Amino acid sequence: MSDIVYIFDTTLRDGEQSPGATMNQQEKVRLARQLESLGVDIIEAGFPAASQGDFEAVQAIAAGVNDIQVAGLCRTMPGDIDRAWNAVKDAKNPRIHTFIATSDIHMEFKLRKSREQVLEMTEAAVKQAVKHTSNVEFSAEDASRSDWEFLARVVATAIKAGATTINIPDTVGYAQPQEFGELIAYLLENVSDSHKAIFSVHCHNDLGLAVANTLAAIKAGARQAEVTLSGIGERAGNTSLEQVVMNLASRPDFYGLNCGVDTERLFPSCRLLSTIIGQPIPPYQPIIGNNAFAHESGIHQDGMLKNRLTYEIMTPASVGRKGTDIVIGKHSGRHALKGKVEELGYKLADEQLAVVFEAVKALADKKEHIFDEDVEALVLEKIFRMSDQYVLKDLIVTTGTGSIPPNAAICMTVNGEEKKVSSFGAGPIDAVFNAVDELTGLEPTLERFQINAITGGSDAQGAVTVRVEESGVKAVGRGAHEDVITASAMAYVNAMNRLAKMKEEVRECATL
Ligand code: KIV
Ligand code: ZN
Repeated sequence: MSDIVYIFDTTLRDGEQSPGATMNQQEKVRLARQLESLGVDIIEAGFPAASQGDFEAVQAIAAGVNDIQVAGLCRTMPGDIDRAWNAVKDAKNPRIHTFIATSDIHMEFKLRKSREQVLEMTEAAVKQAVKHTSNVEFSAEDASRSDWEFLARVVATAIKAGATTINIPDTVGYAQPQEFGELIAYLLENVSDSHKAIFSVHCHNDLGLAVANTLAAIKAGARQAEVTLSGIGERAGNTSLEQVVMNLASRPDFYGLNCGVDTERLFPSCRLLSTIIGQPIPPYQPIIGNNAFAHESGIHQDGMLKNRLTYEIMTPASVGRKGTDIVIGKHSGRHALKGKVEELGYKLADEQLAVVFEAVKALADKKEHIFDEDVEALVLEKIFRMSDQYVLKDLIVTTGTGSIPPNAAICMTVNGEEKKVSSFGAGPIDAVFNAVDELTGLEPTLERFQINAITGGSDAQGAVTVRVEESGVKAVGRGAHEDVITASAMAYVNAMNRLAKMKEEVRECATL
């Protein structure tokens, strides 16, 4: 059996399905490129039949990366399979990933299909996919709650029809590590021609066991792990990429297995995801959380000073945590910024670099130290924003403790036309949001409002994330600025742009 574990990243598909993790097309392409430089083997770019937006995003990712395999997910339905193929076919290494549920509960209540029908659909779907490409993955959804003998028949059927990767998901996060490892061993032993396919696992974290189950399956012979950055995903999330990779890297004595991931890019990749989706990394998160390498107790600190290995099983540098060095100062030139931006993984055209340079200089006038995180926030803010229907131009806010309610006067362009309005609110941010509502004509419910400091210090940029909802359509917006009220306004206007675009897409789908 090979000693290589293939890393299949589904941050852009299963991860993006998690609440508040929606990304626009540019952000998805940006993240896909980061995943490629991280060294994952396959990225699942999306579910092309789900919507026109998904289809186009998968196409853009397929065209926007180099050699990495790009998978498109599809049900075992003929239309879905062709749609997935059309979305990924321009990738250098396209893959079709088709799935159907195999547990009794899913077959009876969700699919309303018999076992025989599921076997037939599996065979037909894989055969159809193989006509497009030999790189076909088949997943047995809810495999961990399926009857083992039936599951083995389905898997054998998929391999006979031409699937080269067989994925065994623990869809509802129900499996226990030992049992899940035994299931993989059982399938490898009992499925005829199992050696013709790579066995993969895809775990969810409902009981907090996604990483443990994945590792148990790998130990039992699975050679592909389906994972997401930071473990984002449906409900309690998916298996975390960085945790699986660092287990393999830290315990070669136990696993004796390798994967192609460059561990030093783990932290920057998770940080990029966090910046894009506007969800901070929790401090206790293994590998990437702020406390993961912090030693507080005196005994630990003493041990660390004598020999780091007393309390550290991996170094911060090995996962790409270089510390928060000051990167760019007031007097740094364009050349230094270019180097920094490239080190952070962005390739910008000269005119884009000029825009970021001006923004960094403006920030340096107000903020003493500029860190990697500040530069990254400005790159995302200034370059990777969607072209906007609503643009915030100016903002004046008055607030205080007297009897006059806080007031916001704002100037925005709405479809290119400049408009101004002034509104009151319960607080200054409420006043800003009311003014934006008035100018856009949208009146969403604010579901989430979160402020984080991007770096330490009282002059840190504030990063604001908002989630809004109107008529069942939800959108997330983000903004970063050294003034938190301005950051809030930027985040809210960003959410309005996304909301308007999503409502447009919903209307287009309804008229199809
Ligand atoms: O959780 C799951 O079963 C899935 C499959 C579609 C692979 O995401
Ligand atoms: Zn899943």
